Amino acid sequence: MNSDSESPPRTPAPVIGVAAADLDRAAAIILAGGLVAIPTETVYGLAADATNPAAVAKIFTAKGRPSFNPLICHVSGLAMAETLADFSPLARALASRFWPGPLTLVLPRKSSCPVADLATAGLPSIALRSPKHVAALGLIARVGRPLAAPSANPSETLSPTTAQHVAHNLASKIDLILDGGACEAGLESTIVAPGETGAVMLRPGALARAEIEQLTGPLTAPDDASRVLAPGMLRRHYAPRARLRLNALDVTPGEAFLGFGPPPEGVSPSLNLSIRGDLEEAAANLFAMLRALDETHVEIAVAPIPGAGLGEGINDRLKRAGALA
Ligand code: TXA
Ligand code: MG
Repeated sequence: MNSDSESPPRTPAPVIGVAAADLDRAAAIILAGGLVAIPTETVYGLAADATNPAAVAKIFTAKGRPSFNPLICHVSGLAMAETLADFSPLARALASRFWPGPLTLVLPRKSSCPVADLATAGLPSIALRSPKHVAALGLIARVGRPLAAPSANPSETLSPTTAQHVAHNLASKIDLILDGGACEAGLESTIVAPGETGAVMLRPGALARAEIEQLTGPLTAPDDASRVLAPGMLRRHYAPRARLRLNALDVTPGEAFLGFGPPPEGVSPSLNLSIRGDLEEAAANLFAMLRALDETHVEIAVAPIPGAGLGEGINDRLKRAGALA
């Protein structure tokens, strides 16, 4: 026991599957105010009943997350979302086109929105997405309420893409882990704030910019005000302990090399995000591979990753992971 303020050790959360009976068990825990780690198509989320302030507070404690950082609320679809936020025609078009899927919309919160203020950090806006994962959707349907769920990792560390990652870092702080296998995308959702005409890109992610721009026109960068409103934009975030050297074309002794595509002459990568140079495959591997190399090395050289498509989100995460503390 280290200090009086520390909560007593808890039994590690059981890791169960995603069959109907498992989802029933998870729903009961959520409705009782507990925390359940859930698979989504992007990364694993740490879910609680978004309308229960005490349950939402437990998320911040488990993650060690600053309370000013608002959470994404996961909904079954547009109908549930429209009870929480005001949708402009553009917002509705985006949701209709990309939900369920890896697009989070930041929208004006309705005054009747039952979501706990803590989940939205007291902001007049709310971040919403409908996840494209049968277990996540099955759980939301059972609970019948939005689920507040940040990525299921301690604050500032790598996002989990398997149930084992969650178990490793959070098991003693949460109630249950649903194992739905490895996440398909492996990168968090793209976050967009649609306005009356255009839209602001708050965080690049698993949905490529070009797809969104077909509906919104060119996405603009957040101004200083919205930067404060999206602390996921914090400079150091998603970070391993190891030092990262980006755009590396060689490897120095003692460094791990995280490759992308065919390795440079004379370099044999420790791991390769995608030997075929496929950005989707690289996104899916990113966090798991950084995590694996972080176990064995204090320096990781990372091959250049093209910036197009999902490369924008991958490079964003690498830059933040590499920023000095
Ligand atoms: O793919 C994902 O988005 C995953 C899965 C679990 O859905 N979730 C996720 O959540 O990455 P989290 O909490 O790690 O990141 C949520 C981001 C944060 O950067 C937060 O600042 C931003 O969303 N956010 C939430 N509400 C916001 C709001 N009202 N305005 C601006 N940004 C907001
Ligand atoms: Mg996160």
